[in-house]
Amino acid sequence: MNYPGWELSFAGGGLLIAMIAIVHVYVSHFAIGGGLFLVLTEMKGHRENSAAILDYVKKHTKFFLLLTMVFGAMTGVGIWFTISLLNPGATSTLIHNFVFAWAIEWVFFLGEIVSLLVYYYTFGRMEKNKHLLVGWIYFIFAWLSLFAINGIICFMLTPGAWLETGNFWDGFFNPSFWPALFYRTFLALMLAGLYGFVTSTRIKDHELRESMVRYCALWLLAPFFFFLASANWYINVLPEHVREVIFVRSPEMVRYIKTFALVSPVIFFGGLVMAIGLPARVKKPLAYLLLLIGLVYMGSFEFIREGGRKPFVIYGHTYSNNVSPLKVEQIRETGILSSAKWVKNKVITDENRLEAGRELFNLTCLPCHSVGGPINDIVPLTAMFKERALEFKIKRLDKSPYMPPFAGTEQEGKALAAYIFQELQGNK
Ligand code: HEC
Repeated sequence: MNYPGWELSFAGGGLLIAMIAIVHVYVSHFAIGGGLFLVLTEMKGHRENSAAILDYVKKHTKFFLLLTMVFGAMTGVGIWFTISLLNPGATSTLIHNFVFAWAIEWVFFLGEIVSLLVYYYTFGRMEKNKHLLVGWIYFIFAWLSLFAINGIICFMLTPGAWLETGNFWDGFFNPSFWPALFYRTFLALMLAGLYGFVTSTRIKDHELRESMVRYCALWLLAPFFFFLASANWYINVLPEHVREVIFVRSPEMVRYIKTFALVSPVIFFGGLVMAIGLPARVKKPLAYLLLLIGLVYMGSFEFIREGGRKPFVIYGHTYSNNVSPLKVEQIRETGILSSAKWVKNKVITDENRLEAGRELFNLTCLPCHSVGGPINDIVPLTAMFKERALEFKIKRLDKSPYMPPFAGTEQEGKALAAYIFQELQGNK
């Protein structure tokens, strides 16, 4: 309650962060797997003494460099801007606990930038082994930055012993750290194959194109079952109550779980189809289609992982609407409006009731619900409720396991219900 709320309405409920974060993770995982792809494919070129393969690697490096360093880096910074505006309280908790993890991540990223630039600009001009070494350095830095970020992302879902100890290492090497690291590493390798399709299907020479597309298919297919096994391990380390929210009790999760389950075989068979001898005019669009399907795949997983935290943004520590579970009782006595530092209406009167209701909505509901937007739209969800039923529902909000308790007073609950019923539902 220490920060102003950002009234996004249509883009509420996480749409904005989802849009930025999903494209970012899609590119940043490629930045890892694709790094290994570069060195190993360069080694293949030397081994087979093929100037054509080396030429392909160089072209692929340019594509890789522009995509990961420009688009990847910009969206990465975009995530910071977005989360610090959407959820300043949780962002502050992350910074205070993991400042050195972030700092070292910046060092790794700087290492990535420098080594990748050197790798690209010295291609064919540096002695073979030295050039490969630069490529390996790039890959190691890229993977290490996954290592650092993975600890922090997993912390938000499974903070584990940190909740009691507050210890950095407990938070960093939390219960889902290892399975998630394997999961993301295998995924990164698969993405190297998926992105590789885009560049390899453009090779002019028929024979080389076929063999490189098959080579990319191997990158996609070989890690696939390890990837699924690590996904299974990941699910199994989640605490029982998190698993229950994801798989049993959360209606909005169903579509993401279904998408993930459906797309898994599609990606696999897509890889097989790419490996057989189809003409280039079929393979080229198919490469883009598979890339798009991969984005949906990754997006649905990220939605499941993020959704699994509900009603928290840091599990057990901060609710999605920035309230700490320890403070709920206290706020309930004094009221949300008088505890919040950035509201206009501190006291509810007959005149400002709806305006205050809107402020309450923005503070406590908008982090998860949009108004008329594609994610968790509050309008249809409350369409069946009369004003009194809404008042009752708000009092018992946490009976739905994916929602935090409403921390306001009786009078605030009524103002919120009135705002939803009269303004959002249009019952004047
Ligand atoms: C932590 C995220 C979160 C917050 C905060 C939140 N909700 Fe929800 N709410 C959800 C989810 C998820 C659903 C289920 C959506 C679905 O059925 O597809 C939901 C569903 C609902 C429903 C439908 C009935 C039900 O129980 O499923 C109502 C009514 C509702 N929310 C009201 C509110 C109000 C009012 C607030 C603010 C005081 C609020 N919510 C805050 C996540 C949240």
